[in-house]
Amino acid sequence: MRFAGKVAFITGAGSGIGRATALRLAAEGAKVAVHDRSESAARDTVEAIAAAGGVADVFISDVSDVAATQSAIAKAEQVLGPIDILVNNAGITSDFCSLEDVTEDMFEKSIMTHAKGTLFATQAVVPGMKTRGGGKIVNVSSISGTVGNPMATTYNAAKGAIAAMTKGWAKELAKHGILVNAIAPGPTITPMTTNRLAPEYFTERAKDIPLARWGTAEDMAGVIVFLASPDSDYMTGQVVSPNGGLAIT
Ligand SMILES: NC(=O)c1ccc[n+]([C@@H]2O[C@H](COP(=O)([O-])OP(=O)(O)OC[C@H]3O[C@@H](n4cnc5c(N)ncnc54)[C@H](O)[C@@H]3O)[C@@H](O)[C@H]2O)c1
Repeated sequence: MRFAGKVAFITGAGSGIGRATALRLAAEGAKVAVHDRSESAARDTVEAIAAAGGVADVFISDVSDVAATQSAIAKAEQVLGPIDILVNNAGITSDFCSLEDVTEDMFEKSIMTHAKGTLFATQAVVPGMKTRGGGKIVNVSSISGTVGNPMATTYNAAKGAIAAMTKGWAKELAKHGILVNAIAPGPTITPMTTNRLAPEYFTERAKDIPLARWGTAEDMAGVIVFLASPDSDYMTGQVVSPNGGLAIT
């Protein structure tokens, strides 16, 4: 129960990596603010946490809506208590199109969801963390944001921005005891990928991965939980990439 007494706010916790992280943090004693733009998805996560004996509540907004998200964070602090851990996880899939076919809409949607969402959720928790003398922020970037993927211009841009903000914030906030790290998942089996890709693609892509399989939401949650825990107290500004050896940099 190493997170007993801690409050964690997780964006996009209604599915995939966010849900697995919410379940893990709650199982280890955290009170979890399950945030998502989908109320039914967030409720499912909260019910799963409650069924396992944990404490969680639902908070809804679109992360690209700054006022709504900052108000969801304020509400979570009233209901569950001051936020000790923020996981900026909400995200949408890549557009899978060539550079020539990228539209302004695609760019704005990816940047608004990933970069803007991460920036302004973080802005909402930092003053309280400064006052209390510390906190942990874990951002979800992507292998796309660190090594780049073809046909993923807007996703690369947004996830690269998250990796860069992570490093800058780590330097800016270290003196306040606020540690900021990111994970850069490799290919991971979640609704984001299973809803879009044919089953054969998973088998083909696994051939490129030294560990010969895709990651799971639980593989990613394990690393996020480590970065939220005291076990990573000497790490800040790191972008850790659970990717089965696909990219070793
Ligand atoms: N699955 C992968 O292969 C993979 C690889 C690298 C990085 N990631 C990143 O991991 C994170 C989680 O993805 P996942 O694979 O678990 O996907 P997912 O689709 O299973 O879950 C994403 C969740 O985020 C929520 N969400 C999306 N846009 C939102 C918004 N604007 N406001 C609030 N909530 C929003 C969705 O409703 C959903 O519940 C994302 O940031 C994604 O980019 C995923």
